[in-house]
Amino acid sequence: MHDTDYLTIALPKGKLFGLSTDLLAKVGRQTDGLHEKSRKLIITNERARLKFIITKTADVPTYVEYGAADIGVVGKDVIDESGKDVYELLDLGFGRCHLMMAVPKDKRRPRLEDYAHTRVATKFPHLAEKFFVAHGMQMEYIKLNGSIELAPIIGMSESIVDIVETGTTLRENNLEEIVSIMDATARLIANRVSYKLKFKQINSLVDDLSKVLPA
Ligand code: PRP
Repeated sequence: MHDTDYLTIALPKGKLFGLSTDLLAKVGRQTDGLHEKSRKLIITNERARLKFIITKTADVPTYVEYGAADIGVVGKDVIDESGKDVYELLDLGFGRCHLMMAVPKDKRRPRLEDYAHTRVATKFPHLAEKFFVAHGMQMEYIKLNGSIELAPIIGMSESIVDIVETGTTLRENNLEEIVSIMDATARLIANRVSYKLKFKQINSLVDDLSKVLPA
């Protein structure tokens, strides 16, 4: 069978993985062996004509933009940071979080502008820059790939721009949010060409998902 018969779905490792597979199971699009820790890179459901690829969260928009995956699940924050040209089909509602700026509690400066020309550590340099430029602030960006909260604690930066979900990480590290930048939830995204070529398959999935998602 030619590959165009299959719908390829990119799923992110991490917090959204289990939530995504639970949702897919609800609409009969699960498959045996679809586990985050699986060493198998492509998992196929022959009966439902589905292929799953499991990738790093930040790479999901890339796989979808290039059409290596027809559709994918990823947070709105990651989509906007990536700048990739993908089609947003559905707000899945889960993975609710927000992007914010935080600083060490004991070193808080009175106004946001007081942080101009300081160093900010972040996994989201593009979104952070967009925010600071809108506030007329020039900053020095330190791109990190994880454990962002460590940077101001050890004096590598004055602040962070990062995702908050429960607030536990900020609390446990004596950091304080000073400004919220954007809210985000998980989205179903599609490659623009796939959306036209595989409209029936994609639309049937979107219809089924819409029925089980809270209004
Ligand atoms: C994210 C984010 C924060 C944390 C926030 O990190 O970067 O560190 O979750 O969640 P909380 O408000 O519920 O504590 P993630 O777990 O994705 O790991 P990371 O260290 O790789 O960024």
